[in-house]
Amino acid sequence: MQNKAFIIAIDGPAASGKGTLARNLASHYNFHHLDTGLTYRAVAKALIDQGLALDDEAIAARVAQELDLKGLDRTVLSAHEIGEAASKVAVMPEVRRALVEAQRKFAENLPGTVLDGRDIGTVVCPDAPVKLYITASAEVRAERRFNEMRAKNTDADYNEILDDLKRRDERDMNRSASPLKPASDAHLIDTSKMDIEAAFLEAKKLIDAALRS
Ligand code: DC
Repeated sequence: MQNKAFIIAIDGPAASGKGTLARNLASHYNFHHLDTGLTYRAVAKALIDQGLALDDEAIAARVAQELDLKGLDRTVLSAHEIGEAASKVAVMPEVRRALVEAQRKFAENLPGTVLDGRDIGTVVCPDAPVKLYITASAEVRAERRFNEMRAKNTDADYNEILDDLKRRDERDMNRSASPLKPASDAHLIDTSKMDIEAAFLEAKKLIDAALRS
């Protein structure tokens, strides 16, 4: 009987396919899954709902400390404005400190966990036995977002989505607190020319090898 959780750390930019991959892997291995982006989004939404400023670190940190990971609702939190606000609160070190602590606790759930985000392999779980960095060109990611929105009958403009993704990448990769970057020992999976099934099989090969060793 394993007494230590097996952690799969997945990082990558917005719309790289890391969320779908993380969910598929968690379901395949029967592991617990946490989309850590939702934790930043939940802090942003709580601030917006209470009419509080998005740039007051002390208030945002207090909200982050009180966050209950069980109450995260993906449907409600996926709104575009919440994502924008989340990338602003995610630059605050005190907010990150509180959320990272909760994420690390979650990561210890037996028999194993899949966490996806921007700093899982570098900061949250640097000792995870499997680290994946999922990426794709900005154009491919914008096209995927565009198709998703069209499928939901939402108005979508490809160029606006592309600009928006580039802005989000810029903010996530160049902030001083835990910027998005691959851990030195992460496996890179570029999904630009790969469907989700192929990415899943590549990840599974790496995870099965780590589970055997
Ligand atoms: O992946 P997402 O769009 O739900 O993430 C929302 C914001 O939160 C995004 O701008 C980056 C930030 N984030 C982060 O800084 N660290 C994480 N581990 C996850 C998300």
